[in-house]
Amino acid sequence: MNNTKFDYGMIGLGTMGRNLVYNMCDHGFSVAGFDKNSSQVKTLVQEAGERKVIGTQSPEEFVQSLKEPRTIILLVPAGAIVDAVINELKPLLRKDDLLIDGGNSHYTDTNRRIEELTKESIHFMGVGVSGGESGARYGPSIMPGGDKKVYERVAPMLEAVSAKVNNEPCVAWLGNGSAGHYVKMVHNGIEYALMQLITETYLLLKQAAGMNNDEIHKTFATWNTCRLQSFLIQITATIFTQKDDLTNHRLVDMILDAAHQKGTGAWTSEDALAIQVPVPGIDAAVTARNLSALKTERVTASQKLKGPASNIISDKNEFVATLETALYFSMITAYAQGMALLQQASKEYQYDLDFAEIAKIWRGGCIIRANFLDQIRSAYQEQPNLQNLMMNEAIAFELTESQSAIRKVIQIAVENGHPIPGLMASLAYYDGYRSEWLPANLLQAQRDYFGAHTYERTDREGVFHTHWAE
Ligand code: 6PG
Repeated sequence: MNNTKFDYGMIGLGTMGRNLVYNMCDHGFSVAGFDKNSSQVKTLVQEAGERKVIGTQSPEEFVQSLKEPRTIILLVPAGAIVDAVINELKPLLRKDDLLIDGGNSHYTDTNRRIEELTKESIHFMGVGVSGGESGARYGPSIMPGGDKKVYERVAPMLEAVSAKVNNEPCVAWLGNGSAGHYVKMVHNGIEYALMQLITETYLLLKQAAGMNNDEIHKTFATWNTCRLQSFLIQITATIFTQKDDLTNHRLVDMILDAAHQKGTGAWTSEDALAIQVPVPGIDAAVTARNLSALKTERVTASQKLKGPASNIISDKNEFVATLETALYFSMITAYAQGMALLQQASKEYQYDLDFAEIAKIWRGGCIIRANFLDQIRSAYQEQPNLQNLMMNEAIAFELTESQSAIRKVIQIAVENGHPIPGLMASLAYYDGYRSEWLPANLLQAQRDYFGAHTYERTDREGVFHTHWAE
C-alpha cells in the first residue's frame, strides 16, 4: 500500500472536474479523485499520464489518501447531490477539514451548509467557477466566498489555476458566507441577459437586414475587434461558420429554436424581485427562453396571429452600425443591472463586496469576460460607492451618445414585428432610471383608494390616507 498523501481531493470527475484536476496538477499540486461512477475514475487515471493523480474507489479510500487538514473540492450538480455527498463524507472528516463547493449552488443552500458544517468544526466554502470545460482546464474565473482565513489556505492554489489578465489572477476572496455563490449567480444572470441581446441582434441581422450566415459571421467577427470585444461575441462569430456533419447546412440552422436552462438566470431574477432591485434585462432574458420553449404553440400561433409585413432594410451598412451601437448600449445596461443587484445584495446579506474586485476577476476566464469590464473596474475604483454603473461619468457619456441608436433599432423592430424583449428592456431600464418623474404617484393613489395603503406627499413629511370619492 502506497502511503503518499495528496494535496487536494476532487469529487465529481465529469469533464469539469477532470479538467480542473489536470489544471491543478499542471501547477504542481497532487490530486486524489473520486466519483460514484467508476468509469469516470478510470477516465481520470487513463488521461492523467505522468501527473500526480490517484483515482480512488470509495469515499473512505479517497479521504484516507489526503493530507490533513484535508481540502476537498466538490464539482457535482447543484441541489440534493451536494447534500448527499456532504452526508457521506461528514463521518469521515476531521476538525478543520475544508469542503469547497465549486458548483452553481443556490446561495441559500450554501448558507445552510456552512451553518450545518460549522457545528462539526468542518469548514465549507461556496466558490463560483466560470468558464466551462476549457476554463476549468486552462484557467477559470473563480469567485470564492466564506471564511477569509480559510480562503487563505487555498488562495495559492486557486490563484495558480485561475485565468490571468495582465498577470493578475481572476480570483479574489469576495466576502463571508455565500458571497461567492451569490456573485456567481449574478454573473449567470448577466450571462443570460447578454446572450439574449446577442440573439436578438442575430434575429435582426437575419430578418431585418436579410443577411446570410457568412455575412452574420463577418459582422460579429468585426464587432469583436472593437468595443464589443468579448467571449460571447467571439464564440457567436465562430458559431456561424460551423458546418453540420449530417446535412449540407450550417449547424446553427439545424438547431431547434427552443432554449433550455438550468435555472441560475431565474434565480437571479427571483432574488432581485425579493430584494426589490430592478433587473428587467435579466427578467426579459429568462422569459424569452421560456417563450422560445413553447415551440409547438408558436408554430400554431404563427398561422393565426398576424403581425405587420416585414421589410428588408435597404442600407445594410448603416443598419449594422446602428445595431452595433444599440448592442453596446444594451450590454452596458445588462452589466449595470447585475452590479446594482450586487450592490443591494451586499447590504442585504452583509457580504461587504468590493465591486472593482468583482469586475477585475470577471475580466478573464468567465463567460461574461469582455473588454468593457476594464471600464467597470475603473468606475468602481474611482467611486467605490457609485450608485449605479450608468452614473459613472464616462459610461453616462457613452450611453447618452448611443441612446438614439437603440431607439432606432427598436422602432424598426416594432414596425416589422420582430420580437426583441431584451433590447426593449434595456432601453426601458435606462429611460426609467433617468426619469425624474414616474407615474408612481397614480399607482400610490390607486393603492390607497382600494386598500387604504397610504401614500407620501411631495410637499410635506408623513404618511397620508384619503377617503377617496366613491
Ligand atoms: C459558467 C456558466 C455555467 C452555466 C452553464 C449553462 O459560468 O461557466 O454560467 O455555470 O451553468 O453554462 O447554464 P444554463 O443551462 O442555465 O444556460
